[in-house]
Amino acid sequence: MIRPHHTFIRFSMSTLYQKVAKDIAQDIEQGVYLTGQKVPSVRSLSKVKAVSISTITQAYALLEDQGYLSAKPQSGYYVKDGANDPVMPPPISKGSEPEVVKKNDIISMMLNAVHQDSLINFGAAIAHESLMPQHALQTHINKVSRFHSKQVFNYLFSPGLESLRRQIATRMRNVGVKCHPDDIIITHGCSEALNLCLRTTTQPGDIIAVESPCYYGFLQLAGLLGLKVIEIPTDAQKGISIDALTLALKQWPIRLIAVSARYSNPTGAAIDSRKQKQLFDLAQKYDVKILEDDIYGELGFDQSLNTVIKTFDTDGRVMHCSSFSKTLSPGLRVGWCISGEHHDDIIQEQTYSSFSPSSLSQYALSSYLESGHYDKHLRKTRALCKQNVDAITQLVKQFFPAGTRISQPRGGFIIWLALPEKTDVMAMQRSALKEGINMAPGAMFSNTGEFDHYIRLNCAIPIDGQVNQAVKTLGRVASENLILA
Ligand SMILES: Cc1ncc(COP(=O)(O)O)c(C=O)c1O
Repeated sequence: MIRPHHTFIRFSMSTLYQKVAKDIAQDIEQGVYLTGQKVPSVRSLSKVKAVSISTITQAYALLEDQGYLSAKPQSGYYVKDGANDPVMPPPISKGSEPEVVKKNDIISMMLNAVHQDSLINFGAAIAHESLMPQHALQTHINKVSRFHSKQVFNYLFSPGLESLRRQIATRMRNVGVKCHPDDIIITHGCSEALNLCLRTTTQPGDIIAVESPCYYGFLQLAGLLGLKVIEIPTDAQKGISIDALTLALKQWPIRLIAVSARYSNPTGAAIDSRKQKQLFDLAQKYDVKILEDDIYGELGFDQSLNTVIKTFDTDGRVMHCSSFSKTLSPGLRVGWCISGEHHDDIIQEQTYSSFSPSSLSQYALSSYLESGHYDKHLRKTRALCKQNVDAITQLVKQFFPAGTRISQPRGGFIIWLALPEKTDVMAMQRSALKEGINMAPGAMFSNTGEFDHYIRLNCAIPIDGQVNQAVKTLGRVASENLILA
């Protein structure tokens, strides 16, 4: 489907007034203008910035929408209450003892809502179609089905299309992973990569360590495989606690550590390179595997984190998984794993379960990557993700109950909110759905109960008046579901 033109423009233009608005927003956040203070008049700022009066008027209107300013008739614009309060990230989590997981109902409620087009999707972490290069992908699908018809309509056995594996191997150089195309297995999304890696390295009853909170799909998968999950205290900014992990490794026969170094789901936490190396050294010391999920890796806002845990792998114990679902298309279902010492076992497992993902998708993505447009697309997408995360953060600050804490991701497009502890998030979810809004309850991301008053919001949607209103509604619904015992 061709996307509506207006939506594309909203996402792709960074116009002069948006740049001016961004500068002023930064000044407000850094305390240059304080709460209640009047900002320069439209006329004087237009002189200072050497731009037109209408540019400043538009910039101020945008800042008003985003909750930074309020207009007083006949007087001017003032910094809104709370606009320059620092954003407080959620606190470090507490972790758990090993447990079996069950969260199906909550997850189904969130996922079933995804296909209702009328709902605003703050729920599933799916980038809106206007963030994906759909038109380019269509062109490549047409091209390969015409020029490679014999291959795209045939099986393509594991480990998958060589030219695609070569492109991925080249991209892995960007994060210091020197791998050969033959080290890569193409999978049916990152989900199959995680599934194959877990299946080949664990037995039912084994204990695996995860971040707390972590990606719900991973918890469900562990449950299906009969694994016990131990949740490790995790900082919403800096990721898993090495001290807590070390204690857990001493105490429990942990088989595998599942972790995302780049922009964890749901916190957006990033593990810096020094800590990535510590993690690898720890895994080596206790002889455990690492399952690294890097699905948001290419969506870092400032691109300063240019290693992954796999970069430090000297003995093949790190299984690195990712996909194009967050950057190009979740529907094409193309992911991969670089699984080190388990490579051959995984090929076998895949061959006897699914053979390999769709040939058409693999050919189309290989052709798209060869066209050289992916990096440009990523640059644009990263900027848009950052812009949206900032905008929704401001709206949450403005409209959510006092005391709400908000993550500050360094990449990806989700934010993680700790609401006041007495918030009944499941009741909030039901009310929100009735008001046409989907969101992800925090309970999905952990087995401990610690995050039952948290929610995750997807920010990869076009920010318009309707979305502004939806955040306001969610804030109201959160207040209405505060249990006043
Ligand atoms: C952290 C994480 N890993 C894996 C997946 C699954 O990815 P895919 O759609 O490529 O199977 C998701 C999807 O939301 C995710 O957020």
